[in-house]
Amino acid sequence: MAEIVITESAAAAAQLGADAVQALVAEKPDAVLGLATGSTPLPLYRALQRRVAAGLDLSRVRAFALDEYVGLERGHPQSYASVLLREAVEPLGLDGGAVRVPDGSLEGIETAGARYEAAIEAAGGIDLQVLGIGTDGHIGFNEPGSSFASLTRVKTLTEQTRHDNARFFDSAGEVPMHCVTQGLGTILRARHLLLLAFGESKAAALANAVEGALSASVPASAIQLHPRVTVLVDEAAASGLARADYYRYAWANKPRWQGL
Ligand code: F6R
Repeated sequence: MAEIVITESAAAAAQLGADAVQALVAEKPDAVLGLATGSTPLPLYRALQRRVAAGLDLSRVRAFALDEYVGLERGHPQSYASVLLREAVEPLGLDGGAVRVPDGSLEGIETAGARYEAAIEAAGGIDLQVLGIGTDGHIGFNEPGSSFASLTRVKTLTEQTRHDNARFFDSAGEVPMHCVTQGLGTILRARHLLLLAFGESKAAALANAVEGALSASVPASAIQLHPRVTVLVDEAAASGLARADYYRYAWANKPRWQGL
């Protein structure tokens, strides 16, 4: 089962997430991170940035983005390559050459998924995958109906996701219709999953994902199949959880040697 940690704020969750990254990098300086984009991971990236300023060295870390939009021109400010450069690579002092994003350019799009899978494999797999969750229950851009065995491929975004992401663009119509995303099978191969969720709008999707039935209709429920999952949430995102008291009790009494 996933370990669910309910924190008082996104900032507190971010500190725990940063602890997990820091512990991994201490053990493996060239660890392979899986990086999410969107709003959710930003507190984690900010927390790590403060640690880098205080001496944490992430320069040997390698990373793979979860997903990318298809068809945005190179350097578009909302391409996930640009977003990751701005929000993670530069502030965290990552080596840009060791950070890969799926290739969303139209030319060669048919092979973008297979090329990305090969690159992840060549890097030895992902050690720690950071995940957010969509209001429709997606992780990566694996929309409802995605196979639990899926690998990196082109997907069509739901209207809900395009609507949710319109805030990053001048208009909803500008949100690309297609993406290249790590599959649920790709995500399940990572050695540790770190799912973050903040705010009331994520409460229903989160409860379905961690307490509901395994279902392709709730892609994030795939994490129930993974042996090592840490879910860091604030009170608002936890508000739909039936077993919240148990998760608090388990966390309060967690043997400290276990780590995250
Ligand atoms: C982003 C990604 C998505 C987001 C999800 C939540 O790389 O793969 O699954 O994590 O759409 O988005 P935010 O965090 O903006 O609410």
